[in-house]
Amino acid sequence: MQVAEWAWWFGLVLGAVPLLAVALWHGADSYYRARFHGSLKLPPGHMGFPLVGETLSLLWYFKVVRRPDGFIDAKKTRYGEEVCMYRTHLFGSPSVLVCSPAANKFVLQSPDSFGIRWPSPELVGVASVSNAEGAQHARLRGFIVAAINQPSSLRRIAQAVQPRVTAALLSWADRGTITAATEIRTVTFDNICETFVSMKPSPLTAKIRQWFAGVVAGVRATPWDIPGTAFHRALKCRRKLTAVFRTELQTRRKNNNVAKDDLMSGLMRTEDEQGNKLSDDEVVDSIVSLVVGGYESTASAIMWAVYYLAKSPDALAKLREENVGMRREMNGASNFLSFDDTAKMKYTAKVVEEAIRLANIAPTIFRVAHKDVEYRGYTIPKGWKVVVWLRSLHTDARYYPDPLTFNPDRWDKPAKPGTYQVFGGGHRICAGNMLARLQLTIMLHHLALGYQWKLLNPDAAIDYLPHPRPVDGAAMAFRKLGTSSSEDPLK
Ligand code: HEM
Repeated sequence: MQVAEWAWWFGLVLGAVPLLAVALWHGADSYYRARFHGSLKLPPGHMGFPLVGETLSLLWYFKVVRRPDGFIDAKKTRYGEEVCMYRTHLFGSPSVLVCSPAANKFVLQSPDSFGIRWPSPELVGVASVSNAEGAQHARLRGFIVAAINQPSSLRRIAQAVQPRVTAALLSWADRGTITAATEIRTVTFDNICETFVSMKPSPLTAKIRQWFAGVVAGVRATPWDIPGTAFHRALKCRRKLTAVFRTELQTRRKNNNVAKDDLMSGLMRTEDEQGNKLSDDEVVDSIVSLVVGGYESTASAIMWAVYYLAKSPDALAKLREENVGMRREMNGASNFLSFDDTAKMKYTAKVVEEAIRLANIAPTIFRVAHKDVEYRGYTIPKGWKVVVWLRSLHTDARYYPDPLTFNPDRWDKPAKPGTYQVFGGGHRICAGNMLARLQLTIMLHHLALGYQWKLLNPDAAIDYLPHPRPVDGAAMAFRKLGTSSSEDPLK
């Protein structure tokens, strides 16, 4: 090839590629604007490239530069914050992002306009609260809240989980170094098996744990039911879980559901105002969806609390002081906190809220528009996904000064209305929020009384997808405080 010909082709490629990219970039957005032109006004924003939309940009912020607020902040800067609602295209769906207290509230509190749509209802449980809508959702939720989020159940759970927590802490100290994320997940899972279905750690519970991990991975995966995919594996795990819990339930029915004081029995026994009980499918699906909703989220919140305290000696000192005071008040009556004791632990409660705020374990939640919905002059078209960007509230300096700093004292004053949505909001607000807080409080109590820990890699990078987590799983040196009066906080 002649030099001139070569230069001609080179120039063509050099010019054509950017031109094509610009055409595609504008083409996708123009297509959507033209489609709705005249009938409705889309929120400000951009639909990105055809098919991939802005997914790559989101992954860039979350996975490559590890600035999870960068994606939404760029939108706020470019399109303004007046309405805090932006059109986009993510993970194959045209979507609208919402990120202000008012816009989030509008979406979360309009169940007639915005519903839940799972890629596979079978995975979350066809008869589970997470999949139900309308009157059926309210009915199932009533049963679940009565079984896990009421003082009577929390009292029972508080007593049931502490022996395993104290034994786990001792074994961590024996080992000297641990990966906190792994250890906390193990103890949290074992406690869930005990309190939900009275199963002690065994080869079967180890399998159940693997199956749950498979289901959780599938909920986040592309829903292709093809052998070899995470989604296919998740469906298989889900069926195995259903079979195990169904067998357990049938055994209990045969034995007239006696001698078990756990969540499954509670769900089997509870009656609504008309005297109706849950069906077997509803009990089994509720158990699975509660473990999926409550296991990783609680374990992650505990891991972050431990991580932040390792970096905040002043907060840890105050936490120890309060918990030592609490233990003295108990005056040797018990080594275990009661649920009623936890209500007195004001500083510990602030540590719990601050850890959950800053960790942003559920950074976003999803809805789908059931119909065209108007909000402040803009329309969210029917069928579009709505991404409620909870994280953006918790890292906004207008609501939480110096938002990325762990500061439990900021909870001396309550959060401004609508700015604290770690558990979501509206009729689907987390059904296990009190249980999550209780488990954190219990773990912090026993840690503060007897242990010291230090991060091995305090500057380890943080992964934000699929869940926020230090890349080393919060590896730490962990030891029991000595019995000499200089170390033992109880002396
Ligand atoms: C720190 C820990 C936790 C966090 C951050 C958390 C967060 C959330 C959020 C944001 C939602 C709302 C989802 C939506 O609106 O789409 C939710 C719902 C839910 N959570 Fe949690 N959760 C936690 C712990 C738990 C626990 C311990 C349980 C129970 C064992 C639980 C059970 C549920 C259930 C059943 C729902 C669905 C409620 C409904 O649809 O009515 N969660 N959670």
